[in-house]
Amino acid sequence: MKRPAPPYVVRPPTAVLTRGFDPRLSVGSARPAVFRSSTYVFTSPESAARAFDIALGKARPARDESVDLIYSRLTHPNADILEDQIVPLEKGAAAAAVFNSGMAAISTMFLTLCAPGQHIVHTTPLYGGTQHLIHTILEPFGMKATAVRAGDGAALDAAIAGTKNLRVVMIETPANPTLVMTDIARAVEAARRHPDAPLVVVDNTFLGPTFQHPLALGADLALYSATKYLAGNSDMLAGVALARDPDLVTALRGTRAVLGNILQPDECWMLASRLPTVTLRMNRQSKNAQRIAEALTRHPAVERVIYPSLFGDAEQARIRDAQCDYPGAVISLELRGGRAAAFSFLRSLRIVRDAVSLGGVESLACHPRTTTHSELSDEELDHAGVGESLVRLSVGIEDWRDLLADVREALDTIAAEPRPVGRP
Ligand SMILES: Cc1ncc(COP(=O)(O)O)c(C=O)c1O
Repeated sequence: MKRPAPPYVVRPPTAVLTRGFDPRLSVGSARPAVFRSSTYVFTSPESAARAFDIALGKARPARDESVDLIYSRLTHPNADILEDQIVPLEKGAAAAAVFNSGMAAISTMFLTLCAPGQHIVHTTPLYGGTQHLIHTILEPFGMKATAVRAGDGAALDAAIAGTKNLRVVMIETPANPTLVMTDIARAVEAARRHPDAPLVVVDNTFLGPTFQHPLALGADLALYSATKYLAGNSDMLAGVALARDPDLVTALRGTRAVLGNILQPDECWMLASRLPTVTLRMNRQSKNAQRIAEALTRHPAVERVIYPSLFGDAEQARIRDAQCDYPGAVISLELRGGRAAAFSFLRSLRIVRDAVSLGGVESLACHPRTTTHSELSDEELDHAGVGESLVRLSVGIEDWRDLLADVREALDTIAAEPRPVGRP
C-alpha cells in the first residue's frame, strides 16, 4: 500500500525539500519545473470570477479549494512553490511573499502599512538604499520618520512611546555595516504598549534565516534581501517578506500585484533551488568569519575588529546572546589611517574582491562610506558610526586559511605605508 505524503510535522531541512511542490503537476519532474507563462487558462468562466474575487479579497478560499491561476503579476506557480518552501526556514512564519529585490520587499512593506501623515520609527544606520527610500520617496509623500541610533534601547523605547500615529517600527539588526545589534524583544514590548499597535518589522538579511529569528521574538514581519545569503551566489536579485499573520502577507501581495514587483518565475526557480543549502552555507561562512575575525584583533593596521563574537560592550553582548545563535559572516574593520588606508587595503586584496553586496559563497569587501551607504549625509554617517576607515568584509566558503592570509597580507601592506604626519 502507498504510504501517505508527509502531513506529519517534519523539521525545516526536510520540509524545505518536501513541501510546496507536487511532481504530478509537472509531468512527474522530481524537482520543480519553470512555468514561464504570463497568463493562465481558466477551468471555466465561473472559476475565473471566483479566482478574481479571492485575489481582490472579496472572498476567502475554502480549505483545500483549488483556485485557478490568473496572471503572473498576481502570482504564478514558481512563486507559490518558493513561498511555501521558504516558510519552514523562518521560525514562527505562517506565510511568505517574494519580490524582485530586497528593496522591492522593503518599499512594498512601507507603502502597504503607512499612509501620508503616519509615522515610522527606525534604527540607524539602515542599509543606504532603505534610508534613501525614506528620504526621497516616503517623506515627500508625507510620511514621517524618526531615526534612533541602533543599539540604544532606551532611546528606541522613548521614540516609540513618544510618537503619535505610529505604524511601523523598522529595525535592521545587526546594522549594516556597523553590526550594532538592537534588542528585538524589547522593541516588540515597547510597540505592544503603544495605543496604535505599530508593527515591528526586522530586516533579517545579515543573520537570518539560520541564526536569528525575529518572528519567534514577537516581531510581525521579517524582511530579506534574498540577494544575499538566501540566494548565496551573487547571481540574482530577490526579496522576501515573512509573517506570523497570513493576512499581513495577503496585504503585501495585494500591493505587489499593483506595483508589479513579484519575483519572476526563473528567479523563483533559482532561489528555491538554493534554499536547501542556505543553512549549510551560512554555518560554513560563519565559522570561517569567526576564525578570521579573531585572528585579526592584534594586527597593527587594525584599530578595531567589529564582529559579534568580539563585542566588548556588555549590553551588545547580552543582545547577541539573547537573540543570535551564531555570529554570522560579516566582519567590519576600522583601520588605522582613514580613507587612504581603507582604499589601499581594498586595492591590495587578491582573493577577496572589492565589490558591494554580501552573503555569497565568494568573499567580498567594500568601503561602505563611499559605496553602499553613500546616500547618507555626512552627519548621518558620523551619527551612525560609518567612518572613513571602515571596511566591510563578507566571508564566503573558501578555505579560511587562504582568506586570512589574503586579508593579513593586505593589512601588512598598509601597515608598511608611510602615513601623512598628524593623521591617525
Ligand atoms: C541589510 C540590507 N537590506 C536590504 C538590502 C537591499 O537589498 P537588494 O539589493 O536585494 O534590493 C541590502 C542590500 O545590500 C541590505 O544589505
